[in-house]
Amino acid sequence: MLPADGDLSEPTIVVRSGRALSGEVVVPGAKNSVLKLMAATLLADGEHIITNVPSIVDVGIMSELLAAIGVTTTRIDGVDGIELRLVNRGAITPVAPYELVERIRASINVLGPLLGRFGHVRLSLPGGDDFGSRPIDMHLKGLSQMGATFEVQHGYVEGRIEHDRLHGADVTFEFPSVGATENILTAAVYAKGTTVIDNAAREPEIADLCTMLVSMGADIEGIGSATLVVHGVEPHSLRATTHRTIPDRIQAATYLAAVGVAGGEVMLRHARPDHMEMLLRRFGDMGLELTAQHDGLMVRAEGRLRAIDVATLPYPGIATDYKPLVVTMLSVADGVSIVTENLYPGRFRYVEELQRLGADIRTDGHHAVVRGRPVLSGAKVRAHDIRAGAALVVAGLAAEGDTIISGVHHIERGYDDLVGRLASLGASVERC
Ligand code: UD1
Repeated sequence: MLPADGDLSEPTIVVRSGRALSGEVVVPGAKNSVLKLMAATLLADGEHIITNVPSIVDVGIMSELLAAIGVTTTRIDGVDGIELRLVNRGAITPVAPYELVERIRASINVLGPLLGRFGHVRLSLPGGDDFGSRPIDMHLKGLSQMGATFEVQHGYVEGRIEHDRLHGADVTFEFPSVGATENILTAAVYAKGTTVIDNAAREPEIADLCTMLVSMGADIEGIGSATLVVHGVEPHSLRATTHRTIPDRIQAATYLAAVGVAGGEVMLRHARPDHMEMLLRRFGDMGLELTAQHDGLMVRAEGRLRAIDVATLPYPGIATDYKPLVVTMLSVADGVSIVTENLYPGRFRYVEELQRLGADIRTDGHHAVVRGRPVLSGAKVRAHDIRAGAALVVAGLAAEGDTIISGVHHIERGYDDLVGRLASLGASVERC
């Protein structure tokens, strides 16, 4: 089998359709949580333990970044998945170099802890996924309200504080940014006085971070709500902790989407339906049968999905990260759907790849019109980011003939053995 794009050494994922899925899959820990939990270890000296860690490339990159700053990570493979031991000896260099920061968006999460605890940070401007510019103005504005000053030069942002500590402030976001909420939170835990974050992002991963910070000794009220109140604690008073990462709702949604297009019945062990309520309601409208179980979620699908209209919104709305999966499902649903992107205008690039598989999708600005086809047709395609890549794998399950996906490294940044897990459910999929 020849890999796509003529590069003989590049790995590919090859998917064949035709089989209903059955069995049980364990949903790994959440990428968008664990990377932030790792950054939070900068706040306290000692040995931190994070469990339920997904085996993904981004965890390795974050470990390298933390090592450059002064926190060492050891990975322990146990019966209950991966555990990380992060040792912070207090010998910190508050500089996050370009070579590491440009590789993951979550590297921006060292900003809050470094500034809040050490009063100084030098961070290369962050990279991330390939879907348009991702500014950090809200992060910097909130931290400035707390007494920080910033200079942006030569691709680096350098932050300092005016006095010996940041001070509490009322920070109101015009948009509930996930990353900005996290950075203000982690900066506020050591600030003098109280910080109120209004219109805070409410994603489950933020509540997970708050839970870890509280177990380290932080004083946070309103966890899970749009108003977070952080009472600053004494400098250096936080302690190392042990914390279990929440399950990954996006990876869970990927297996739901796979069952949606391939049919079958699958138990998603550890999935948290309470973290995915809106999505599950809409998947129900599309025809998936979903039943919450003790420690998981059962999904069953038979026959063709139904078309629905969907718009992405901050949590508890439908996450933008689900969208490539939803568009893929709709491209084989019965009827016409309109999908609206409200977070990242450029996040429709994968549509061209789905079109190569025969999907009938037209995009116009923030909108996509999807006319469902009974079946897609296998072809060579390329993953341009994590979620779009996973969606192409799901699309392959709905396509006649072989679908050969390159750009596999994007998928491996955020998916813990997607191929192995799908294969264990009976899908014909392999990494070549
Ligand atoms: C996080 C997730 C990402 C998800 C996104 C939205 C991680 C590592 N990534 O990204 O998978 O798609 O939430 O759910 O957790 N914005 C600004 N200025 C800022 C900050 C953000 O304009 O200072 C804009 C962004 O460009 C974007 C929107 O706000 O249009 C959402 O960004 P944000 O919620 O901050 O997402 P991330 O934390 O980057």
